[in-house]
Amino acid sequence: MLFNKRKAKKPPVIDGRLRHIAFIMDGNGRWATERGMPREYGHSHGAETFRKIGRYCASIGLQCMTVYAFSTENWKRPKREVDTIMGLLSHYIDECVRGMEQEQIHLRFIGNLEVFSPELREKMEKIDRATAHKPFLLNVAINYGGREELVHACNRLIAEGKTSVTEEDICHAIYTAGCPDPDLIVRTGGDLRTSNFLLWQSAYAEYYFTDVLWPDFSPKDVDQAISAFYARKRRYGGV
Ligand code: FPP
Repeated sequence: MLFNKRKAKKPPVIDGRLRHIAFIMDGNGRWATERGMPREYGHSHGAETFRKIGRYCASIGLQCMTVYAFSTENWKRPKREVDTIMGLLSHYIDECVRGMEQEQIHLRFIGNLEVFSPELREKMEKIDRATAHKPFLLNVAINYGGREELVHACNRLIAEGKTSVTEEDICHAIYTAGCPDPDLIVRTGGDLRTSNFLLWQSAYAEYYFTDVLWPDFSPKDVDQAISAFYARKRRYGGV
């Protein structure tokens, strides 16, 4: 053979063991700082990566993906940075409205959405309704905190008149109701913590941590996380 041409790797074969991947998209700020740029620059590249990874996950046979876009704690950041992230989200919704026919994505926003303006909430609800028939569910967690979600769920159940609750009740009252629990949670950016993300839903999730900063994260990195997932043995407390 004249050329030792490297074959393009095939996308991983996904089976029923892996239905839902969640991502903690960390490292945008550091990625920008490394380039001598303001943190907002990292977020706008992070939003590009989010689009790319969303489309990739929708194309390989997964049912669902969740991203941690903005936590209940992220309001502590400088106003300019918060405004940039909100602007990127709003822009992404507009893009989804325009490209809705081509995409196979059901876009849903999870978190305490009450804090957002009526216009933004209306936009979020509208795109959720308009894409609800699509096969791949993409949850974008904004103003999301795992503890807040559980408190919210308990208060909802109390308001419904419950005086004691079951696990099933909580599963129906959390923001991700109707969506399978994440099988795999990927955190980019090198930190080894869960940061209040999907506390209830992650009970049996496998975690995958990588040093890759989110704007550099690629479909190849998704494949690597998936391979690592399939190499593990999930026992759910059994033997
Ligand atoms: C964490 O990186 C990232 C965030 C808090 C925001 C994530 C937002 C986006 C990817 C853009 C908007 C999203 C969508 C869905 C269009 P960091 O800022 O904490 O990075 P650092 O740890 O390097 O400081």
